[in-house]
Amino acid sequence: MKIAVLGTGMVGQAHAAKLSELKHDVTVGTNDVDKALARTEPGRMTEAFGVWAKQHPAVKVATFAEAAKDAQLVIEAISADAVIDVLSAIKDQLDGKVLVDITNPLDFSQGTPPRLTVSNDDSMGETVQRTLPQTKVVKAFNTVNARIQVDPKSLGSGDHHLFMAGNDQAAKDETVKIAKAYGWQNILDLGDIKSARGLEMVFPLWAEIYAKLGSAVFNYKIVSQEGI
Ligand SMILES: NC(=O)c1ccc[n+]([C@@H]2O[C@H](COP(=O)([O-])OP(=O)(O)OC[C@H]3O[C@@H](n4cnc5c(N)ncnc54)[C@H](OP(=O)(O)O)[C@@H]3O)[C@@H](O)[C@H]2O)c1
Repeated sequence: MKIAVLGTGMVGQAHAAKLSELKHDVTVGTNDVDKALARTEPGRMTEAFGVWAKQHPAVKVATFAEAAKDAQLVIEAISADAVIDVLSAIKDQLDGKVLVDITNPLDFSQGTPPRLTVSNDDSMGETVQRTLPQTKVVKAFNTVNARIQVDPKSLGSGDHHLFMAGNDQAAKDETVKIAKAYGWQNILDLGDIKSARGLEMVFPLWAEIYAKLGSAVFNYKIVSQEGI
């Protein structure tokens, strides 16, 4: 499948590498291709994109608009402060497509842990869906670290949960296919895009656990009498 991964950070790199390994035709989207490819300084937890791109020659790199134009499915992993501007500018290229939104609405302006920019009665997932009314937005993967998103078995058994939310069932079915190909066994569909509120409000708990464990490589397992 032709897949666009919008974002050059650790999430974009993780999904693009895994999807390419799974033999999809992958294009990473960025603001400025030359600038992205010229990066040689690694981030705090990320390979420098220029170095990463050389290590993944099968993955193409294009502007956000070019990457989205021919894609059959779009994975979006853009910083919260930029995502709505970026998506608004390429709205036409996203019409009718499935867009998997991984963005957590984080504001680092007051230090760490970051605050949520939206919560309780709205969410980034809903904001993305309102911005792109013709696009089938699925909120998924945002509750775990990039490494676990694409390799749930890196935690051992893989017996833990991925959550998703979205208005379009066929779009969620497509997302489930991708998640299963990554190795996810337990996928809980929480309902329509309003459920993105809960998925994004997981972040403060995630940050507490991260601080306690000193590691981002963990996840949640839902245990229920209903036999989930
Ligand atoms: N890191 C994780 O493990 C993790 C886990 C769950 C959810 N998330 C969420 O996933 C998203 C991506 O996270 P990340 O750590 O991979 O990368 P990130 O650094 O949050 O975002 C990288 C992408 O955002 C674009 N961007 C940043 N600032 C911009 C601006 N002012 N204008 C236009 N574009 C801008 C960058 O464009 P260029 O390509 O041009 O540089 C790049 O493509 C975030 O929303 C994050 O909250 C991350």
